[in-house]
Amino acid sequence: MANITLTWHGHATYSLDIDGTKVVVDPFFAPNSPTAQVTQEEISADYILVTHGHGDHVADLIPLAKRTGAKVICNFEIGNWLMEKGVENVHQQHLGGGFQHEFAHVKMTVALHGSGLPDGSYGGMPGGYLLTIGDRKIYFTGDTALFSDMALIGRGGLDVVILPIGDNFTMGIEDSLEALKYLKPAVAIPCHYNTWPPIEQDAEAWASRVSSETDTKPVVLAVEGTYTV
Ligand code: NI
Ligand code: MN
Repeated sequence: MANITLTWHGHATYSLDIDGTKVVVDPFFAPNSPTAQVTQEEISADYILVTHGHGDHVADLIPLAKRTGAKVICNFEIGNWLMEKGVENVHQQHLGGGFQHEFAHVKMTVALHGSGLPDGSYGGMPGGYLLTIGDRKIYFTGDTALFSDMALIGRGGLDVVILPIGDNFTMGIEDSLEALKYLKPAVAIPCHYNTWPPIEQDAEAWASRVSSETDTKPVVLAVEGTYTV
């Protein structure tokens, strides 16, 4: 069984260490991210997963991809944009599509959100990622509203779900509880909150409601905090 450690870098940015393979999700580091404690220069990456084109998910994408040579997994449109910018190691997928990469089976899932890139380029549709690593399943919802098809994503069982609770731009606490009732994961970790005033949330209040209203165990990480899957 693989050793899998998840690190939260603030906002919606995560690193996974899977038996030494480093996977970064939605690179948004200091000083671009107001809550991140590390810069992209301090991060190593073998793979980068991109959920959508918004600046708070791609601000550090090009420098991180170019410096590390990591393979970027993203939708078709963001992949074309990256290749135009000189990022060569790109694997394009799209909604509903899965692919067996060396570190995991990666399926791109739907998300209800936008995806325009910071320079105004078309970023295609937003998504999330369902990772299957051996017998374990980790689902990054990406920025999204609540949708009842989450029940389909959860039907194979989920060990960990990482989902937004910030409200305003994505689902908030109330809808995240509904999402967990559809997804039924063993563990939920919140993201996309407390980065700016419009998405301030009390994560401990969220956690106590998850504990009392769902069968899921909430795990609230500090920035640079880790969770072993
Ligand atoms: Ni967004
Ligand atoms: Mn966002």
